[in-house]
Amino acid sequence: MLFLFALKIVDISVPRIAAWNSDELPIYEPGLDKVVKACRGKNLFFSTEVDQGIRDADIIFVAVNTPTKKVGMGAGRAADLTYWELAARRIASVAETPKVVVEKSTVPIKTAEAISAVLHGAGKTRFDVLSNPEFLAEGTAMTDLDNPDRVLIGGNMNESGKAAVARLADVYAHWVPRERILTTNVWSSELSKLVANSFLAQRVSSINAVSAICEASGADVDEVARAVGMDSRIGSKFLKASVGFGGSCFQKDILNLVYLCQSMGLADVAEYFHSVVTMNDRQKERFVSRIIHGLFNTVTGKRIALLGFAFKKDTGDTRESASIEICRRLIEERASVCIYDPKVEADQIWMDLTAATKLDKTEVQKYVTLCDSAYEAALGAHALAIATEWDEFKTLDYDKIQEDMVKPSFVFDGRNVLDHGALRELGYIVYAIGKPLDPKLNTSINC
Ligand code: UDX
Repeated sequence: MLFLFALKIVDISVPRIAAWNSDELPIYEPGLDKVVKACRGKNLFFSTEVDQGIRDADIIFVAVNTPTKKVGMGAGRAADLTYWELAARRIASVAETPKVVVEKSTVPIKTAEAISAVLHGAGKTRFDVLSNPEFLAEGTAMTDLDNPDRVLIGGNMNESGKAAVARLADVYAHWVPRERILTTNVWSSELSKLVANSFLAQRVSSINAVSAICEASGADVDEVARAVGMDSRIGSKFLKASVGFGGSCFQKDILNLVYLCQSMGLADVAEYFHSVVTMNDRQKERFVSRIIHGLFNTVTGKRIALLGFAFKKDTGDTRESASIEICRRLIEERASVCIYDPKVEADQIWMDLTAATKLDKTEVQKYVTLCDSAYEAALGAHALAIATEWDEFKTLDYDKIQEDMVKPSFVFDGRNVLDHGALRELGYIVYAIGKPLDPKLNTSINC
């Protein structure tokens, strides 16, 4: 077989590369395992030989972490570009022949310009820096990659920039129709990523805001979403009310955009986008309030089965997951929380909860137990709280589960994935986001 490209993935982390070269890949993503195993050692290589990787490459994709800054100027909003700068300095010091350097990480606008200055300041050769934002979503990454809505490539408008853009476009053109490959100036490309994520998150916050109106008015958020989404100008996607969005991108990118607006003196625009995050925080708090008020205004000492810890189904990723905040609040209320998630590693949960609560692990373990199944988590529980929409939660034997729960048994469906009518027939008291409230649910305080 003739391979058109060889992809060498280099990382300074020895254990991470070892995991990529093993049978147990370091991340769970449907379909990834199959592709890696079919191509590894043929035209896909994982290595810690970073310098050799740089020397050999024609095109270098930089996909390092760009978390929100924790300290210093812009802390809590601006992106931390430390890893990006380190990668650029390494490329500059090693590269001997011209390279196309591609920004894959989500970065603030004008990063390409700054990186280009670092590369040319320290380097011995020519570099063309392109912006090529990643739009794939976790859980569907492989299909998104195969069949993207669009591929966006931003570059400099000079001759060498245009040639670099064309070169990268040719790579994608092997499987993406040309009309879906957009080329723009580098700033439009960088900004588009932040705006796309902000718009998506904005839709989720909009429908979550509507869910609160639905609960107060007796409307049904799914019916409203359907009616609204059938307007082709609005569209039906990203209108699923939830316990709040999570993931590594939405909050980070909005805060990044907010910071950008503030630094440009656009205070009102910054405030507008920031409200998307505020609404999301509010939605998580609303869910916790429903649990507390539902359980007769206290959860202290009560056992709550938290089903799902990942920020969405089909991933083991917990970054910014709503479950973390829900759990933190329940710990604050001195509840006993039993967590079950089909994919998230135990260590990850302890790490997230110790960071969120600022307690040490033994202290967190006084309130939190990790379970191997939803059934185990529900043993002796007063309530089930669904925080991630895993398919397996839809088909649990809720009759059997209720036998082992304290009565009255409650279900708080933070994803609207269960059959609420059937659960009520079984005797559960059910709360679901944005749905007409169960007459048996304590609603003495408005949430
Ligand atoms: C997102 C963007 O979709 C993707 O284009 C970008 O490259 C990275 O960020 P991802 O974070 O993987 O992808 O997940 P996404 O499917 O967008 O979901 C984000 C969060 O919103 C999840 O917590 C999800 O459960 C929530 N969500 C999504 C809702 O609550 N309701 C919806 O209707 C859609």
